[in-house]
Amino acid sequence: MSNSKRKILITSALPYANGDLHLGYMLEAIQTDVWTRFQKAQGHEVTYVCADDAHGASIMLKAAELGKTEEEHIGEIWKRHKKDLEDFRIGIDHYHSTHSEENRARAGSIFKALESAGMITKKEKEQLFDPAKSMFLADRFVKGECPKCHALDQYGDNCEVCGTTYEPNDLINPVSVFSGATPEMKTVEQLYFDLPQKGEFLQTWLDSGSMPAPVANKLREWLKDGLRPWDISREAPYFGFEIPGYPGKYFYVWLDAPIGYMASFEAYCNTEEGKARNLSFDEYWQANSDAELHHVIGKDIINFHGLFWPAMLDVAGYRRPTNIMVHGYVTINGEKMSKSRGTFITARQYLDHFDPDLLRYYFATKLSPHIDDIDLNLEEFAQKMNSDLVGKVVNIASRCAKFINKNFDNKLAVLNDENQTHYNAALEKLPAIQEAFNNFELGKGCRLIMQIADEANRLIDELKPWVTMKEEGGAEITHQTCSLGVRLFRIVMTLLAPMTPSLAQRTAEFFNVAELKWEDLQATDEIQVATFKPLLGRVDIKKLQSSLLSPAEAAAKQKPSKSKSEKKMESKPEVQADAPAAEAVEAPKGNLKPEITIEDFMKLDLRIVKIVDAQPVEGADKLIQVTADIGEGVTKNIFAGMKSAYQPEDLIGRQVLALVNLKPRKMRFGMSEGMMLAAGPGGSDIFLLTPDEGAAAGMNVN
Ligand code: 2FM
Ligand code: ZN
Repeated sequence: MSNSKRKILITSALPYANGDLHLGYMLEAIQTDVWTRFQKAQGHEVTYVCADDAHGASIMLKAAELGKTEEEHIGEIWKRHKKDLEDFRIGIDHYHSTHSEENRARAGSIFKALESAGMITKKEKEQLFDPAKSMFLADRFVKGECPKCHALDQYGDNCEVCGTTYEPNDLINPVSVFSGATPEMKTVEQLYFDLPQKGEFLQTWLDSGSMPAPVANKLREWLKDGLRPWDISREAPYFGFEIPGYPGKYFYVWLDAPIGYMASFEAYCNTEEGKARNLSFDEYWQANSDAELHHVIGKDIINFHGLFWPAMLDVAGYRRPTNIMVHGYVTINGEKMSKSRGTFITARQYLDHFDPDLLRYYFATKLSPHIDDIDLNLEEFAQKMNSDLVGKVVNIASRCAKFINKNFDNKLAVLNDENQTHYNAALEKLPAIQEAFNNFELGKGCRLIMQIADEANRLIDELKPWVTMKEEGGAEITHQTCSLGVRLFRIVMTLLAPMTPSLAQRTAEFFNVAELKWEDLQATDEIQVATFKPLLGRVDIKKLQSSLLSPAEAAAKQKPSKSKSEKKMESKPEVQADAPAAEAVEAPKGNLKPEITIEDFMKLDLRIVKIVDAQPVEGADKLIQVTADIGEGVTKNIFAGMKSAYQPEDLIGRQVLALVNLKPRKMRFGMSEGMMLAAGPGGSDIFLLTPDEGAAAGMNVN
C-alpha cells in the first residue's frame, strides 16, 4: 500500500444530452471507474465527477424535434444517463449538468479573465443568415447537398453519409432548417480565444510528461502545424450561456463543456457528502494545487483537452491537468458501431440482458494507455468470461468451499508454513499489480491477477483435496488445501473488485465482511465463512448475439464474411430487411408500415442499374436471376420476381431502379444482393423504366 495519501480528482468526458449512452461511452466510464475504485482501495482521497454536456445546436434541434423545451429534454436525458451509469456500477461521486448555475458563473468568470488578459480577439466572419427568420444559422441549422458525395439533406458541418467535414457555405443548395429559405451570407463579429499566444506554455506542458506519449505526440503535430485562434462565440438562437457583455452571443458549447468538470466538482463540494469529506474547490483547482487532476477522454477530443483547456486554465489562473488518459473507439466484432448495421448497442440494451461486471472486466482486460480501438468481439467476450471469471476465478472457490462448508464447520484454517509460503507468493505480486493499475495498464493488471488464479488452480490440481479427503487421516491436509484455495480466491476477488464490484460484493458476503479490502489480505488468523452459493453463471454466445445485435447481424455472424470487393462498393452501409427500428416509431395504421424518418430513407442506396444478363431460374416459377451493373465496375446478383411479366431476354439492356445496399440474403437458389424496384399491380403488369426513362430521370449508372 502506498504510504502517502494522494488527493485525486478524476473525470470522464461529459456525454452530450442528445441520446442514450452507448457502449462506446461505457468503455470510458468503465476505464475511469476501475481506476477510481482501484485508487480508493489504496486509501487515496479520490473524487470522480462527471456531468451531461447540455449545450449546443444539436441539442436545441433535438429538443425541437421532440416538441420539448431544451430544459425538459436535457432534464429527461440527465435522468436516463444517470440511471445507466448507476446500473453499470460506475461510482461517480457527483453527476452534474453543464446547464447549471455553477457552470454559468464559472464560465462567465473564466471568460472575463481571458478577456482581461488580452486573450479574446474579435474578427468579422462571413456566416449564413436566414432572411425569412432574420437570424444567423449555426452549422447544424443549414441543410443541403454534400459537396463531395452529393447526398441530400446533410447538415452544414459534416456529411453523415460520406463523413466529409466542410463549412456550411460549401453545401450545394443550402436551406435553413427553420424556414426552408435559401440562406444569405452576412458578416458577423465573432469572438476568438487567441490560442497562438499560448504556444510556449503549451510546448512546456507537452514536454511535462503529463500525458502518455501517443497523446503528447498527437498534440505536438498540431503545435507544429501552427496554432490558430479558436472561435468561441455563436449567434442566437443557440442553447447555452449568453456571453457576459455581448448580448445575443453565446459561448460555443466546447467553451463551457470542460468548465463543467469544475462546476460538477464545485456542486459536489457543496453537497452534504462533499462537506463531510471536507472537500475544497480551491484546494483542487488553484494554480499551485498539489491535488491531481486526471481527465479520461476518447481520441476524438484530444485537441480540446490537450490544447484549449490547459491554455484557458492557465490564463484564468487555475492549475492544469496532471494527466490526460485517452482511449480509442469501441468496435463491435471488428466493425464500427452502426445503427444501420444493427451493431449500435446502448448501455441499457446491455443492462437488460447481462451483468455489468462482465463487460467491465472485458473492457478492462483490453485497456492500456494506448489509443488503439477496442474491439468487443462477442465470441471472445463469452469465451473470456467463461474461462477467466467462471472457469478460473469462481472455480477456485467452488472447488474448495464445499469441503470447508461440509467438513470443517465453515472455518478456514490458519495456514501451515508451506501453504503460507504459497499465499505469500501471491501477495508478492501485489506491487506489480498496483503499478500496472496506477499507470492505467488495466489489461496488464488483469493478466497479473489471473496469474494468481492460475496458480491457485494449479495448486488445487496438485493437492487434490477430493482425493485426500477420502484418505485415512487426510482431513487436516484437505482443510489446509481448501483453506489455501479459498484464501487465494479472496486475494483474487479483492484485486478484481474494481472491475467486478457486484461479484466482489457477493464474495464479501461469503467471507462475512461488508467489503473486500486490500488491508485484510495480510491477515492470517482463522476465518469463518458463510455457505458458498454459486457466484456467476456461464455466458451463452447465442444469447449474447441475439440480445445485442439485430437479428440479421446475429444471423450473419454464423455466415462467412463478405469479400473485399463487396465491402468496397458500400458507399452506403447495407440496410437490413428485418432490422428493428432504431428509434420508436408510430404504431402502423391499417396496412401501412410504421413511418420512417428521412434519416431512415437516406440509408437506402437507390440507383438506376443496367441489367447486363438475365437467366431463368430452374425450379422457380416467378424468379429471374439478374446480373445488374450498378456502376463503378461492380455487378450484383439479384433474384427478381418478374417472370410473370417478362421473359429473361426482355430484360437484358433495360435500366431498372434498384436498391443496391440491401444486405445479401441467401435464397433457395443462391445469394440475392439487392432488390429491383418496379411498379404495378403484379401478374403481367409489372412496369420497368424504358432505357430512355432512366436517363430522363437524371439517374445514370455512371
Ligand atoms: O465529445 C463529446 O461527447 C463532448 N460532449 C465531450 C465533452 S468533454 C468535456 F470537455 F466537457
Ligand atoms: Zn457526403
